[in-house]
Amino acid sequence: MATPMTQDELKQAVARAAIEYVVEGEIVGVGTGSTANFFIDELAKIKDKIKGAVASSEATAERLRSHGITVLDLNQVASMPVYIDGADEITQFGAMIKGGGAALTREKIVASVADKFICIADGSKLVDVLGNFPLPVEVIPMAQAVVARKLAALGGEPRLRLKNGVPVHTDNGNVIIDMVGMQILNPIEMEAIMNNIVGVVTVGLFARQGANVCLLGTSEGVKKLVF
Ligand code: 5RP
Repeated sequence: MATPMTQDELKQAVARAAIEYVVEGEIVGVGTGSTANFFIDELAKIKDKIKGAVASSEATAERLRSHGITVLDLNQVASMPVYIDGADEITQFGAMIKGGGAALTREKIVASVADKFICIADGSKLVDVLGNFPLPVEVIPMAQAVVARKLAALGGEPRLRLKNGVPVHTDNGNVIIDMVGMQILNPIEMEAIMNNIVGVVTVGLFARQGANVCLLGTSEGVKKLVF
């Protein structure tokens, strides 16, 4: 009997499969996280065939540069064929929770410039209903308390994200409130409601503009979901 693949092997497999979506001579948008890191390592092998990459975080920019991949400023880029990134949860309709790595705002911005969002994820990320993974919300620090109260009224428990006892700050200098225990039955509506709270920068629901394709790593191989 074949040994089951580890989660990292599944992530590596989808990262490899995603290379097929990179358009020669073009710019590629690159996400953040462990799956995106595997993708960057694969992208390095074809770096001479692309114009460059737009990074969704400082960490991604650093990894891209360490491989000698040109990192472009989004302000100099009007369009790109694909944005490739992981997810914390994804539904069979392509709606996602993202932001486990606190990069949700830049991820959403870069994704908004791309023609297609290619999600790469191991099979454990596919869910029927979003919300088991705490939903990240990026918030302006001075609005943290008022936003937390308003978020709590929507259901779920707001928790300020801490690392080593101190608040995590995003690349944009903001804090993250993770919403624990939500069952998000209508992600498009919930994304709009949360985005409308003053003080919220971005909600980690990617539903209005979800994934176009998901490459899902399973022990039976990479499954392709098209939305
Ligand atoms: C970072 C993200 C990541 O895409 C998400 O957390 C998935 O990460 P990983 O590939 O490490 O499981 O949204 O902000």
